[in-house]
Amino acid sequence: MNTLRLLCSIDTRPYLALLPKYLMLHQMGMPPGAEFHEHLATNWRENYSRLHFKNRLDVINSILDHVVQEGQNWLDLGCGSGVITAELLKRGARVVALDGSPAMLNEARRTLKKNGGLVSFREGDVQDLTWSDSSAFDGILCSSVIEYVENPDELIRESSRVLKTNGVLVLSLPPKYSFIRSSQKALRFLFKLIGKEQYAYLDVSNFEISPAAVAGWLKSANIRLDQCFSYDPVLPKKLVSIFRPSLLICEARKVD
Ligand SMILES: C[S@@+](CC[C@H](N)C(=O)[O-])C[C@H]1O[C@@H](n2cnc3c(N)ncnc32)[C@H](O)[C@@H]1O
Repeated sequence: MNTLRLLCSIDTRPYLALLPKYLMLHQMGMPPGAEFHEHLATNWRENYSRLHFKNRLDVINSILDHVVQEGQNWLDLGCGSGVITAELLKRGARVVALDGSPAMLNEARRTLKKNGGLVSFREGDVQDLTWSDSSAFDGILCSSVIEYVENPDELIRESSRVLKTNGVLVLSLPPKYSFIRSSQKALRFLFKLIGKEQYAYLDVSNFEISPAAVAGWLKSANIRLDQCFSYDPVLPKKLVSIFRPSLLICEARKVD
Protein backbone atom coordinates (compact mmCIF):
# COMPACT_ATOMS: atom_id res chain seq x y z
CA MET A 1 0.00 0.00 0.00
CA ASN A 2 2.86 2.28 0.97
CA THR A 3 4.60 1.43 -2.28
CA LEU A 4 1.46 2.28 -4.23
CA ARG A 5 1.16 5.61 -2.42
CA LEU A 6 4.81 6.32 -3.15
CA LEU A 7 4.36 5.52 -6.86
CA CYS A 8 1.30 7.75 -7.09
CA SER A 9 3.19 10.62 -5.49
CA ILE A 10 5.93 10.58 -8.17
CA ASP A 11 5.61 13.52 -10.51
CA THR A 12 5.83 11.95 -13.98
CA ARG A 13 5.66 15.26 -15.87
CA PRO A 14 9.46 15.68 -16.28
CA TYR A 15 9.69 12.15 -17.72
CA LEU A 16 6.79 12.74 -20.08
CA ALA A 17 8.51 15.90 -21.25
CA LEU A 18 11.54 13.78 -22.23
CA LEU A 19 9.44 11.35 -24.28
CA PRO A 20 9.42 13.29 -27.57
CA LYS A 21 13.21 13.65 -27.33
CA TYR A 22 13.58 9.92 -26.72
CA LEU A 23 11.30 9.11 -29.65
CA MET A 24 13.26 11.49 -31.85
CA LEU A 25 16.58 9.89 -30.88
CA HIS A 26 15.05 6.48 -31.54
CA GLN A 27 13.92 7.58 -34.97
CA MET A 28 17.35 9.03 -35.61
CA GLY A 29 18.86 5.54 -35.26
CA MET A 30 20.91 4.19 -38.12
CA PRO A 31 18.96 3.45 -41.32
CA PRO A 32 18.70 -0.37 -41.79
CA GLY A 33 21.01 -0.37 -44.84
CA ALA A 34 23.65 1.55 -42.89
CA GLU A 35 23.26 -0.65 -39.83
CA PHE A 36 23.85 -3.71 -42.01
CA HIS A 37 27.10 -2.24 -43.35
CA GLU A 38 28.35 -0.96 -39.99
CA HIS A 39 29.93 -4.35 -39.25
CA LEU A 40 31.46 -4.67 -42.70
CA ALA A 41 33.28 -1.34 -42.59
CA THR A 42 36.80 -2.42 -41.65
CA ASN A 43 37.04 -4.90 -44.52
CA TRP A 44 34.98 -3.04 -47.12
CA ARG A 45 38.03 -1.50 -48.82
CA GLU A 46 39.60 -4.97 -49.21
CA ASN A 47 36.68 -6.02 -51.40
CA TYR A 48 38.13 -3.78 -54.09
CA SER A 49 41.13 -6.10 -54.46
CA ARG A 50 38.67 -8.72 -55.77
CA LEU A 51 38.12 -8.84 -59.49
CA HIS A 52 34.38 -8.24 -59.50
CA PHE A 53 34.65 -5.10 -57.35
CA LYS A 54 37.52 -3.90 -59.56
CA ASN A 55 35.43 -4.46 -62.68
CA ARG A 56 32.49 -2.53 -61.20
CA LEU A 57 34.86 0.31 -60.32
CA ASP A 58 36.22 0.28 -63.89
CA VAL A 59 32.72 0.83 -65.28
CA ILE A 60 32.06 3.69 -62.81
CA ASN A 61 35.47 5.23 -63.58
CA SER A 62 34.79 5.10 -67.31
CA ILE A 63 31.82 7.41 -66.61
CA LEU A 64 33.61 9.62 -64.07
CA ASP A 65 36.45 10.13 -66.58
CA HIS A 66 34.22 12.23 -68.83
CA VAL A 67 31.72 13.74 -66.40
CA VAL A 68 33.85 15.02 -63.50
CA GLN A 69 35.59 18.35 -63.96
CA GLU A 70 38.14 20.03 -61.74
CA GLY A 71 36.64 22.36 -59.12
CA GLN A 72 33.15 20.86 -59.33
CA ASN A 73 31.07 20.07 -56.24
CA TRP A 74 30.11 16.40 -55.95
CA LEU A 75 28.05 14.48 -53.46
CA ASP A 76 28.94 10.85 -52.79
CA LEU A 77 25.67 9.39 -51.51
CA GLY A 78 26.42 6.34 -49.37
CA CYS A 79 30.18 6.78 -49.69
CA GLY A 80 31.04 3.66 -47.66
CA SER A 81 34.74 3.54 -46.85
CA GLY A 82 35.47 6.21 -49.47
CA VAL A 83 37.01 4.16 -52.29
CA ILE A 84 35.00 5.89 -55.01
CA THR A 85 35.10 9.22 -53.14
CA ALA A 86 38.87 9.01 -53.79
CA GLU A 87 38.17 8.66 -57.52
CA LEU A 88 36.13 11.88 -57.48
CA LEU A 89 38.90 13.67 -55.58
CA LYS A 90 41.54 12.34 -58.00
CA ARG A 91 39.65 14.06 -60.81
CA GLY A 92 39.74 17.41 -58.98
CA ALA A 93 36.23 17.53 -57.50
CA ARG A 94 35.33 18.85 -54.05
CA VAL A 95 33.27 16.16 -52.37
CA VAL A 96 30.69 15.86 -49.64
CA ALA A 97 30.82 12.21 -48.57
CA LEU A 98 27.60 11.10 -46.86
CA ASP A 99 26.89 7.81 -45.15
CA GLY A 100 24.67 6.53 -42.35
CA SER A 101 27.26 4.15 -40.92
CA PRO A 102 29.69 5.80 -38.48
CA ALA A 103 32.19 2.96 -38.95
CA MET A 104 32.16 3.35 -42.75
CA LEU A 105 32.64 7.11 -42.36
CA ASN A 106 35.56 6.57 -39.97
CA GLU A 107 37.23 4.38 -42.58
CA ALA A 108 36.61 7.02 -45.24
CA ARG A 109 37.99 9.79 -42.98
CA ARG A 110 41.06 7.70 -42.13
CA THR A 111 41.94 6.93 -45.73
CA LEU A 112 41.08 10.32 -47.21
CA LYS A 113 42.60 12.57 -44.56
CA LYS A 114 45.39 13.75 -46.86
CA ASN A 115 42.73 15.39 -49.07
CA GLY A 116 42.09 17.93 -46.31
CA GLY A 117 39.71 20.72 -47.29
CA LEU A 118 38.54 19.07 -50.52
CA VAL A 119 36.37 16.49 -48.81
CA SER A 120 33.86 16.86 -46.00
CA PHE A 121 32.06 14.03 -44.28
CA ARG A 122 28.45 13.86 -43.15
CA GLU A 123 26.70 11.20 -41.15
CA GLY A 124 23.05 10.89 -42.12
CA ASP A 125 20.37 9.22 -44.16
CA VAL A 126 20.84 9.40 -47.93
CA GLN A 127 17.09 9.93 -48.32
CA ASP A 128 17.25 13.17 -46.34
CA LEU A 129 19.18 15.92 -48.10
CA THR A 130 17.32 18.76 -46.38
CA TRP A 131 20.68 20.04 -45.05
CA SER A 132 21.62 21.01 -48.62
CA ASP A 133 20.46 24.00 -50.67
CA SER A 134 18.78 23.27 -53.98
CA SER A 135 21.08 23.23 -57.05
CA ALA A 136 24.18 22.89 -54.85
CA PHE A 137 25.95 20.05 -56.69
CA ASP A 138 27.45 19.54 -60.14
CA GLY A 139 27.29 15.81 -59.68
CA ILE A 140 26.04 12.98 -57.49
CA LEU A 141 27.47 9.51 -57.26
CA CYS A 142 25.27 6.82 -55.73
CA SER A 143 26.94 3.43 -56.04
CA SER A 144 25.32 0.27 -54.65
CA VAL A 145 23.18 2.22 -52.20
CA ILE A 146 19.66 2.82 -53.52
CA GLU A 147 18.71 -0.85 -53.18
CA TYR A 148 19.16 -0.49 -49.39
CA VAL A 149 16.87 2.49 -48.79
CA GLU A 150 13.21 2.40 -47.77
CA ASN A 151 12.14 5.15 -50.15
CA PRO A 152 14.15 5.14 -53.41
CA ASP A 153 11.71 7.63 -55.00
CA GLU A 154 12.53 10.15 -52.28
CA LEU A 155 16.26 9.63 -52.82
CA ILE A 156 15.86 10.38 -56.53
CA ARG A 157 13.59 13.39 -55.92
CA GLU A 158 16.02 14.84 -53.38
CA SER A 159 19.00 14.14 -55.65
CA SER A 160 17.26 16.02 -58.43
CA ARG A 161 16.54 18.97 -56.12
CA VAL A 162 20.16 19.36 -54.99
CA LEU A 163 21.60 18.90 -58.50
CA LYS A 164 22.22 21.93 -60.70
CA THR A 165 20.50 21.93 -64.07
CA ASN A 166 22.62 19.71 -66.33
CA GLY A 167 24.26 18.22 -63.22
CA VAL A 168 25.22 14.55 -63.47
CA LEU A 169 23.85 11.58 -61.59
CA VAL A 170 25.93 8.38 -61.64
CA LEU A 171 23.68 5.73 -60.19
CA SER A 172 23.82 1.97 -59.91
CA LEU A 173 20.58 -0.01 -59.71
CA PRO A 174 19.83 -3.74 -59.42
CA PRO A 175 17.46 -4.81 -62.20
CA LYS A 176 14.45 -7.02 -61.50
CA TYR A 177 15.02 -10.73 -62.20
CA SER A 178 18.78 -10.40 -62.23
CA PHE A 179 20.27 -13.86 -62.76
CA ILE A 180 22.55 -13.61 -59.72
CA ARG A 181 20.10 -12.01 -57.31
CA SER A 182 17.35 -14.45 -58.28
CA SER A 183 19.71 -17.41 -57.79
CA GLN A 184 20.88 -16.02 -54.45
CA LYS A 185 17.27 -15.52 -53.32
CA ALA A 186 16.49 -19.15 -54.16
CA LEU A 187 19.62 -20.37 -52.37
CA ARG A 188 18.85 -18.18 -49.36
CA PHE A 189 15.41 -19.76 -49.14
CA LEU A 190 16.84 -23.31 -49.37
CA PHE A 191 19.59 -22.63 -46.83
CA LYS A 192 17.02 -21.21 -44.41
CA LEU A 193 15.21 -24.55 -44.54
CA ILE A 194 18.29 -26.17 -43.00
CA GLY A 195 18.76 -23.33 -40.53
CA LYS A 196 21.62 -21.56 -42.33
CA GLU A 197 21.96 -17.88 -43.19
CA GLN A 198 23.28 -17.10 -46.65
CA TYR A 199 23.26 -13.81 -48.60
CA ALA A 200 21.98 -11.92 -45.56
CA TYR A 201 22.23 -8.67 -47.52
CA LEU A 202 19.01 -9.65 -49.30
CA ASP A 203 17.09 -8.87 -46.10
CA VAL A 204 17.97 -5.19 -46.45
CA SER A 205 18.61 -4.89 -50.19
CA ASN A 206 15.07 -4.70 -51.51
CA PHE A 207 14.72 -2.23 -54.34
CA GLU A 208 14.87 -3.59 -57.89
CA ILE A 209 13.65 -2.03 -61.11
CA SER A 210 12.78 -3.26 -64.57
CA PRO A 211 15.49 -2.02 -67.01
CA ALA A 212 12.72 -0.73 -69.29
CA ALA A 213 11.33 1.44 -66.47
CA VAL A 214 14.56 3.25 -65.52
CA ALA A 215 14.33 6.15 -67.99
CA GLY A 216 10.67 6.91 -67.15
CA TRP A 217 11.29 6.67 -63.41
CA LEU A 218 14.19 9.14 -63.59
CA LYS A 219 12.23 11.39 -65.93
CA SER A 220 9.50 11.80 -63.32
CA ALA A 221 12.16 13.53 -61.18
CA ASN A 222 13.43 15.69 -64.09
CA ILE A 223 16.44 13.48 -64.70
CA ARG A 224 17.30 12.31 -68.22
CA LEU A 225 18.95 8.93 -68.65
CA ASP A 226 21.93 9.29 -71.02
CA GLN A 227 23.43 5.82 -70.93
CA CYS A 228 23.22 2.65 -68.93
CA PHE A 229 25.86 -0.10 -68.66
CA SER A 230 25.21 -3.68 -67.63
CA TYR A 231 27.56 -5.03 -65.02
CA ASP A 232 27.72 -8.55 -63.73
CA PRO A 233 30.45 -10.12 -61.59
CA VAL A 234 30.11 -13.65 -62.97
CA LEU A 235 28.16 -13.78 -66.23
CA PRO A 236 30.35 -13.70 -69.34
CA LYS A 237 29.56 -10.66 -71.55
CA LYS A 238 27.75 -12.74 -74.15
CA LEU A 239 25.35 -14.14 -71.57
CA VAL A 240 24.52 -10.68 -70.18
CA SER A 241 22.40 -10.13 -73.29
CA ILE A 242 20.40 -13.25 -72.39
CA PHE A 243 20.30 -13.13 -68.59
CA ARG A 244 19.76 -9.95 -66.61
CA PRO A 245 22.96 -8.60 -65.03
CA SER A 246 23.32 -7.89 -61.32
CA LEU A 247 23.66 -4.13 -61.79
CA LEU A 248 22.77 -1.35 -64.17
CA ILE A 249 25.22 1.54 -63.92
CA CYS A 250 23.57 4.68 -65.23
CA GLU A 251 24.77 8.09 -66.32
CA ALA A 252 21.99 10.66 -66.18
CA ARG A 253 21.50 14.44 -66.11
CA LYS A 254 19.13 16.80 -64.35
CA VAL A 255 17.03 18.71 -66.85
CA ASP A 256 15.00 21.90 -66.40
C1 LIG B 1 27.20 -1.48 -50.59
S1 LIG B 1 27.83 -0.11 -49.70
C2 LIG B 1 28.45 0.89 -51.01
C3 LIG B 1 29.53 1.85 -50.55
C4 LIG B 1 30.17 2.67 -51.66
N1 LIG B 1 29.23 3.51 -52.34
C5 LIG B 1 30.84 1.76 -52.65
O1 LIG B 1 30.34 1.58 -53.77
O2 LIG B 1 31.91 1.22 -52.28
C6 LIG B 1 26.35 0.73 -49.22
C7 LIG B 1 26.60 1.93 -48.33
O3 LIG B 1 25.39 2.66 -48.20
C8 LIG B 1 25.20 3.03 -46.84
N2 LIG B 1 23.75 3.17 -46.62
C9 LIG B 1 22.78 2.27 -46.89
N3 LIG B 1 21.57 2.78 -46.63
C10 LIG B 1 21.79 4.04 -46.19
C11 LIG B 1 20.93 5.10 -45.79
N4 LIG B 1 19.59 4.98 -45.80
N5 LIG B 1 21.50 6.28 -45.42
C12 LIG B 1 22.84 6.43 -45.41
N6 LIG B 1 23.71 5.46 -45.80
C13 LIG B 1 23.18 4.29 -46.19
C14 LIG B 1 25.86 1.93 -46.04
O4 LIG B 1 26.22 2.36 -44.76
C15 LIG B 1 27.06 1.59 -46.92
O5 LIG B 1 28.19 2.33 -46.57
